[in-house]
Amino acid sequence: MSRSRQDTRIKIVHAREVFDSRGQPTVEVEITCDGGRTGSAIVPSGASTGQFEAYELRDNDPARLGGRGVLRAVGHVNDVLARAIYGMDAADQSAIDERLCQIDGTANKSRLGANALLGVSLAAAHAAAAARELSLVEHLHELWLAILPGPSRSSVAATSTTACAPATLGTRLTLPLPMVNMISGGLHAGRNLDFQDFLILPVGARSYRDALTQIVSVYHQLGRLLSTAGFEGVLVGDEGGYGPKLTDNEQALALIVEAIEAAGLAPGRDVALGIDVASTHFYDGTRYNLVAGGQRSVDAAGLVDLLESWVERYPIISIEDGVADDDWAGWELLTRRLGRRVQLIGDDLFVTNAERLRQGIARGVANSVLIKVNQIGTLTETLSTLRTAIDSGYWPVISARSGETEDSTIADLAVATGAGQIKIGSVARSERLAKYNQLLRLEERLASRATYAGGEIFESLRSG
Ligand code: PGA
Ligand code: ZN
Repeated sequence: MSRSRQDTRIKIVHAREVFDSRGQPTVEVEITCDGGRTGSAIVPSGASTGQFEAYELRDNDPARLGGRGVLRAVGHVNDVLARAIYGMDAADQSAIDERLCQIDGTANKSRLGANALLGVSLAAAHAAAAARELSLVEHLHELWLAILPGPSRSSVAATSTTACAPATLGTRLTLPLPMVNMISGGLHAGRNLDFQDFLILPVGARSYRDALTQIVSVYHQLGRLLSTAGFEGVLVGDEGGYGPKLTDNEQALALIVEAIEAAGLAPGRDVALGIDVASTHFYDGTRYNLVAGGQRSVDAAGLVDLLESWVERYPIISIEDGVADDDWAGWELLTRRLGRRVQLIGDDLFVTNAERLRQGIARGVANSVLIKVNQIGTLTETLSTLRTAIDSGYWPVISARSGETEDSTIADLAVATGAGQIKIGSVARSERLAKYNQLLRLEERLASRATYAGGEIFESLRSG
């Protein structure tokens, strides 16, 4: 069937205020093309936000929704941004995103708001896919393949002081290995624990469906263990992980190991552990202030010592934001100590910003980057950061925010780019399951056209 360029010409751009999984206002954008096809997207929102993230524009009107309203961002979409991209080709994502950034004109998107820009950027991708009669994953895959890889990867491993992601990442449609929150602390669960996420990675599973099934089994076993241990009626945190008041951070690891065993799986071989320390949020500029299990404050070396002692005793394969986002010396130490054995993810450190990631690569810190679309604010910039990561041997992890909605774009994005991993939160709460279930659908629909990124992506850690 023939398609004319007219089909993807942008005719209507419309935004509205909707609500996210914490009942907070957020931006939804709908774009209609000349041919009548529409696409829409809803913008997520973080709680443990990094200081270097693109700017989320809120109304700050204390008389309405505690100042959290997004009517100004919505207004910017319906007015200035709608006019700016009217008549453009929705399929030309990079031209649209360039125009959005140009109209905003600030380095961190603070004039119109990254939430306004991202809504338009993602809705354009959905509209283009619909107009082209492609599924979103296929359209995103084309956009991804259009971003050419950088110079050959061969030099990366030789010069790196850390383990390195396989060169196969990013080359084809791939169902991601999920990294899933079991126990929540930090800002997501009333600071019951200092560390934000205690996660599992089903590294032994052979398919995405098997991986998810194992995760669900462990999650239910953990729930049972917690209630037997007296945490009756234990509540879940913002991302669906359990939020028990444990005696200390380490108890979370021990309980998860027990739950893995109770599910009939082998800790380490079948299911490995991960932690999002989210340390920026208990760092005062010089010291890390821990509360759970007795107040104490440690410097970066003390925190790295603690993490290393856990790596010795638990099958931990991934640590995110092990030190704070502006503690570069701490990052160098952490990477020197653990970079060969553990995936070290920069979230607040890199904020999906290619420039910050390049700084990190140059300084040899971390070996992985969390990819959150709203930290940078457009799809094209997200793809570019992802490309930079893969070209440099850094493991990318596509991630949701703690404030999410039924929008499941990141599931398609993870598969389309072959990034290899995804982090969405736990397997409870529908804003999380919207993505996990979309991945199940994609696995089925793509069948042999897609591969699955299992634990083999961590080969260099095991051998290093
Ligand atoms: P956030 O948390 O969305 O609240 O920033 C997620 C994370 O830190 O990974
Ligand atoms: Zn994080």
